[in-house]
Amino acid sequence: MAFYRQAGTIPPKRHTQFRDADGALYYEELMGEEGFSSDSSLLYHRGIPSAIVDSAVWAIPDVATVPNHPLKPRHLKLHDLFAGDDAASTDVVTGRKLILGNNDVRISYVVSAAESPLYRNALGDELVYVESGAATVETVFGTLEASQGDYVLIPTSTTHRWIPRGDEPLRAYVIEANSHVEAPKRYLSRFGQFLEHAPYCERDLHGPGEIPVGEGTDVEVLVKHRTSQGIVGTRFVYATHPFDVVGWDGCLYPFTFNVKDFEPITGRVHQPPPVHQAFEGHGFVVCNFVPRKVDYHPLSVPVPYYHSNVDSDEVMFYCGGDYEARKGSGIGIGSISVHPGGHAHGPQPGGVERSLGVEYLDELAVMVDTFAPLELGKAAFDCEDPAYAYSWVAKQAVEA
Ligand SMILES: [Fe+2]
Repeated sequence: MAFYRQAGTIPPKRHTQFRDADGALYYEELMGEEGFSSDSSLLYHRGIPSAIVDSAVWAIPDVATVPNHPLKPRHLKLHDLFAGDDAASTDVVTGRKLILGNNDVRISYVVSAAESPLYRNALGDELVYVESGAATVETVFGTLEASQGDYVLIPTSTTHRWIPRGDEPLRAYVIEANSHVEAPKRYLSRFGQFLEHAPYCERDLHGPGEIPVGEGTDVEVLVKHRTSQGIVGTRFVYATHPFDVVGWDGCLYPFTFNVKDFEPITGRVHQPPPVHQAFEGHGFVVCNFVPRKVDYHPLSVPVPYYHSNVDSDEVMFYCGGDYEARKGSGIGIGSISVHPGGHAHGPQPGGVERSLGVEYLDELAVMVDTFAPLELGKAAFDCEDPAYAYSWVAKQAVEA
């Protein structure tokens, strides 16, 4: 997102000599997207940002997936994935469990109370939704404070670490793109400013604060990257601490956005999911369904009509309220539903009738729609409710 920001100390002219009080040169690093042709920032380091002293294999968490075949809608209960005492030894980077993925995006879940290693994802941006709990996210650009309802957008190759804080563990829903994650282009002017019809704007995005200072030598950084063989990890050891930035400026940096700042767009009749869109990446979109007044036509049907998203797999993460259309399906807080292309989906039996006359929906859900089929990670099978696929028929029979 192209909003200029500046932090710390920088020289008045880019690409010119910039020295500390003792006369030593700082080292300028350009972090830029799309090969010098898109957003970038210039960072000034005390040490040389290329100075590694070792490189070794990092065995990343399991990213194997299997096709959704035979095709089924799925209900996955993410809260079943971690036992109560797991969080103390689980960090957001190495402890995340892969639920779903394809060549464009991977969705993982983690319950964490442990500080993560220094890490960066060289495949794409990470969009982490905080279901509950809180964390400090230290990055080379500065420190973010994240809490319930925050999306944390961490640009590709941003060195950072997660430090959960508070009395309860951090529950994080991790969306890893193989691309950059951006605001929908239709929300933006041709120069990149949010337009009046957008459901959020620049004031709702919170950039990094104080730049963290790290000391020491031989500092490990885990890097997730890609080879022709798939996704792999490398453990770099840096000669000096990568948190050595004295200042930076530019339009590329991490930020948070809280879902409570998303202003819902409503209408007389049911509004389609694109009005709920918050972000997009290559091959997927991210929408959020927030508490809102609903349809005010006298004959409106507030819950969705049955729909076949013929080009999409749809993943809903239910993280607050009581999702009206899914009542009676077993879905609750911490559940996700996977509604794949090739299968029409909509409210469980009785949902349409129950919704008539409702004026307000108290629901909070994060949706990822992908344009290529999603496959299932091992963790999906560890928390699946196998009855869900047949819940439309089963409930119909019970009610009859
Ligand atoms: Fe849907």
